[in-house]
Amino acid sequence: MKNVLITGANKGIGFETARQMAQLGFVVHLGSREKARGIDAVRMLKESGIFNVELIEIDVTNIDSIKEARQELETKIVALDVLINNAGIAGEQPQSMSKGTIENLRRVFDTNFFGAVQTTQQFIDLLKKSDEPRIVNVSSGLGSLTAHSRTTDNPNMGMYDAYSCSKTALNAFTVMLAGEFRGTKFKINSIGPGYTETDLNGHSGTQTVEEAARRIVKYATIGVDGPTGGFFKDDVIPW
Ligand SMILES: NC(=O)c1ccc[n+]([C@@H]2O[C@H](COP(=O)([O-])OP(=O)(O)OC[C@H]3O[C@@H](n4cnc5c(N)ncnc54)[C@H](OP(=O)(O)O)[C@@H]3O)[C@@H](O)[C@H]2O)c1
Repeated sequence: MKNVLITGANKGIGFETARQMAQLGFVVHLGSREKARGIDAVRMLKESGIFNVELIEIDVTNIDSIKEARQELETKIVALDVLINNAGIAGEQPQSMSKGTIENLRRVFDTNFFGAVQTTQQFIDLLKKSDEPRIVNVSSGLGSLTAHSRTTDNPNMGMYDAYSCSKTALNAFTVMLAGEFRGTKFKINSIGPGYTETDLNGHSGTQTVEEAARRIVKYATIGVDGPTGGFFKDDVIPW
């Protein structure tokens, strides 16, 4: 059975992604920074008849936590087939570029950008051992500079600017990493799951976690002819 690690999978889009990957037959290593929340999430999946799921404690902002998670996984599996860098935070609002605090900007980048980078770095050797390694960086349409620069009446302007910058940086990471591994068996993509009803946005999102997770799962399981180094929702999202 193939193995997938999903960060921030104790709730929201990550939790639903865990369910869908498990239903496809993957052994799901359900990442949770808080043990108790992870135990609850695994229990909920097991109560719904999904048993190929195991909790792994991982805080993507804490390098010691990531290393411990890697060491734990290395004792259980030979290869990691899929890494889904899903953990993310919105940060405090408003967060305009002229007035938002640097502390908030750093916190948002710590999770959404540096968190994904350092998690990937720690798991890359295990991914290399897979026949078809896949990395999905869960980005956002808000990371699209093209969309922002085209918009003249964005009602969210100033509300999610730090978050948007962190997702743009995450997309740059996707491009650089995919470039590094071009011509190899790796497929590495950024996915915008869509505006989804979760805690992240106070449940104002208009899509379901099922729809969001389906987009992530598609690229987490993309075949050998699939793209790498791209940014997708249902279609290509402009950078
Ligand atoms: N919802 C949307 O409309 C939307 C749109 C585009 C992109 N996204 C992206 O989708 C991803 C999932 O978001 P969501 O909407 O499902 O939000 P969510 O329900 O708030 O879930 C976020 C998850 O990330 C975890 N997390 C936060 N900081 C972490 C850290 N330092 N280490 C490990 N885990 C951490 C949270 O854990 P705790 O429970 O411990 O806080 C939680 O499990 C994020 O990357 C987000 O930016 C969401």
